[in-house]
Amino acid sequence: MTGRFLFPADFVWGAATSAYQIEGSPLADGAGPSIWQRFAHTPGMMANGDHGDIACDHYHRYRDDVALMKALGLKSYRFSINWARVLPEGTGRINAAGLDFYSRLVDTLLEAGISPNATLFHWDLPAALDDRGGWLNRDSADWFADYAQVMFRALDDRVPRWTTLNEPWVVTDGGYLHGTLAPGHRNLYEAPIAAHNLMRASGAGIQAYRATGRHEIGVVFNIEPKYPASESEADRAAAARADAYMNLQFADPALRGSYPPQLAECFGAAWPEIPAGDFALTRQKVDFVGINYYTRAVVKDDPAQQPLRAAAVRQPHRTHTETGWEVFEQGLVDTLMAFRERYGDIPLYITENGSAFYDPPTVEGAVLEDPLRVDYLRRHLRALHTAMAAGANVKGYYAWSLMDNLEWSLGFAKRFGLYHVDFATLARTPKASAHFYARVIASRGAVLDA
Ligand code: BGC
Repeated sequence: MTGRFLFPADFVWGAATSAYQIEGSPLADGAGPSIWQRFAHTPGMMANGDHGDIACDHYHRYRDDVALMKALGLKSYRFSINWARVLPEGTGRINAAGLDFYSRLVDTLLEAGISPNATLFHWDLPAALDDRGGWLNRDSADWFADYAQVMFRALDDRVPRWTTLNEPWVVTDGGYLHGTLAPGHRNLYEAPIAAHNLMRASGAGIQAYRATGRHEIGVVFNIEPKYPASESEADRAAAARADAYMNLQFADPALRGSYPPQLAECFGAAWPEIPAGDFALTRQKVDFVGINYYTRAVVKDDPAQQPLRAAAVRQPHRTHTETGWEVFEQGLVDTLMAFRERYGDIPLYITENGSAFYDPPTVEGAVLEDPLRVDYLRRHLRALHTAMAAGANVKGYYAWSLMDNLEWSLGFAKRFGLYHVDFATLARTPKASAHFYARVIASRGAVLDA
């Protein structure tokens, strides 16, 4: 080993999960229902009729799961808080038992020497707030800030890193434009309003943190770089529209206080009037930005596709994961360089990166071989190192995911875990990728040479 891929000694090695995907017991101990609870129990919305009632049963097995993290050598664990466990009606009354679950989780992590990284909103809005309009209601920024404040008061003494939102694009694109995710709306007019209110909420949450918190807070975006399918003017403009919609629509209001011009052009009459003062709220100083990177898209001009007039072109002769995503690690380098160019030298974390490849439902033996996932991990960690050597200010990396879990409306069949979960017995078994990642962490990346 030459040490070609050695990472800094203080680099934060982590793994990530989210509440609805792993916890189970969504209504236990006084919790209110979330929109995912409702969506998953609406016939026809979930692959195979799957739902999060049990999921990985992390709600009861969190101590064992922290032991799995420790076995990997994780320095940090990124999890999310189910808002409706803590505030069953979304606002007002605090459910002490729900808060206590997260407090116990945090204590268990700290005992294991693992630093907690808490996300306040990973898509599971309290159903009671959806009944009041959810993210379409401008009051949602205040609801979120009040909830955030409850969490900061309870846990900021022990949680050093916070995130307001995870991937607001997915919430608006899947939840409000295409109806494939909760709350299941299909409405061109609603999507940009929900997007804007999410970014107002993130800003309000950061403001609340400045009043109470003593550590770090940021926001997490899924960034998918868009490459034109050809050098033609039309394809390049299509790629720019796709980039504006998926990436800049969220990062720009947060970090520049504006929207890219393509959005008003694409949405036309559905693009809302934005009160000028709103950008003072959306644009707050962040301590870091989290980037979730999975794949790229190659985009061509396609007038039939509304509202973006752009379509993704599948790349032949390339490896694709079980979710149909091309394995393209150079996109991580390009994303990090472009982010620095547009937004400046903000500290970054890769808050998610990983792959669903087929694994069997049941494992024989002590380890499950998953060579494609190992290869994905190796390629992306090498690419990350390359980007850092070229100046990307990346402080840490979180693998998605610690263990197989509920891949939202795609159900349990899409397995992203380092640990395999047998959903009949809930047994956890390490995959070869878990052992590989443990060796990467222990060697600070030196084994990436091989
Ligand atoms: C989300 C996760 C999801 C993963 C894989 C991200 O979009 O934050 O909740 O499971 O990617 O699709």
